[in-house]
Amino acid sequence: MAILLPGGAGYIGSHTAVELLNAGKEIIIIDNYSNSKPQVLEEIKQITGKDFKSYIMDYRDKEKLEKVFRENKIEAVINFAGYKAVGESIEKPLEYYDNNIMGAIALLEIMKKYEVNKFIFSSSATVYGEPEKIPITEDCRTGGTTNPYGNTKLFIEQILKDVYNADNTWDICILRYFNPVGAHESGKIGEEPNGIPNNLMPYIARVAVGQLEQLSVFGDDYDTPDGTGVRDYIHVVDLAKGHVCALEKLEKEQKGLYIYNLGTGTGYSVLDMVRAFEKATGKTVPYKIAPRRAGDIASCYADPTKAKQELGWEATKTLEDMCKDSWNYIQH
Ligand code: NAD
Ligand code: UFG
Repeated sequence: MAILLPGGAGYIGSHTAVELLNAGKEIIIIDNYSNSKPQVLEEIKQITGKDFKSYIMDYRDKEKLEKVFRENKIEAVINFAGYKAVGESIEKPLEYYDNNIMGAIALLEIMKKYEVNKFIFSSSATVYGEPEKIPITEDCRTGGTTNPYGNTKLFIEQILKDVYNADNTWDICILRYFNPVGAHESGKIGEEPNGIPNNLMPYIARVAVGQLEQLSVFGDDYDTPDGTGVRDYIHVVDLAKGHVCALEKLEKEQKGLYIYNLGTGTGYSVLDMVRAFEKATGKTVPYKIAPRRAGDIASCYADPTKAKQELGWEATKTLEDMCKDSWNYIQH
């Protein structure tokens, strides 16, 4: 029985593929390489010494999806596919709603037809909007998302709840990621944003390597210890391991709809990140203070207790690991 990974060639999917293969699971990757490269599959095979099947396809293509389900025995789907750039989603809302929501619906329809009921979904801390309290627990209010990307996560979560309410033979896990950073320690897979990065860590790495001149720190007047934005940065390998634990829970326990925060529980500011990166790499990261970025919040970090109690999962990698592994990857 195989685990199907739509978007498995991407940043989080590729690291999860490695952890699933290391845990002895069979996997199949489907990807259209709109934000990744086929070469990633070779890297996953090299890291793990294991082989797996893959299909080049759009996950919204129901005919091709059916073929995948007919040709293979699929036990579960972990869906990483979709678009994820917040700014771009404001300019291209229809593309985001189409790719993220229609893709999820296509998967669920074909899964239903082939009686595959285990679904794990890549959600985001963005569903909490302006958080009701910090650290954020899973029962905090969701909503108040400020962009189409965030809306797609919120809407898909609602679709999953409705699907489960209509038929509780579904077995669903919603994972709300905080801020994934870092790369595999081999330096073979990592995050490769197209163009100028929007996210902090890849931006810092490009400044350190000399590809970009300086970091703009978006606001130093937030209500945080040093005035800059605070986030819960989590090493992508820790995050990937969370998916293996989630899958094992769905395999073992009663059917249900489960929701978990995947974060470390620790918040770091933008300036903490700059200093940690400089310390871990010995490079200087020039920066300037710039105006706040629209839609940003002051602080966002998880209470990860529920994942620890129910999945037996917790993040173990340090901020130094995150910085070192990002740096190692960008130099490869
Ligand atoms: P990514 O862009 O690296 O990976 C997504 C993968 O999906 C890519 O390989 C892309 O080619 C593929 N894809 C996109 N549209 C497709 C389609 N129509 N058909 C087939 N393949 C398609 O992104 P990621 O960082 O690995 O994120 C994975 C998931 O986690 C996404 O759903 C994202 O929204 C979510 N997430 C990411 C973050 C983050 O900061 N990286 C945070 C919270 C949630
Ligand atoms: N920041 C800067 N300069 C930059 C980039 C970011 O100062 O060049 C700051 C931001 O203002 C924020 C922090 O660094 O305070 C983190 O910003 P990121 O863009 O790296 O991450 P966000 O928390 O804004 O957003 C990320 C993902 C979203 C996801 C959200 C919650 O990009 O997709 O985490 O999971 F929804």
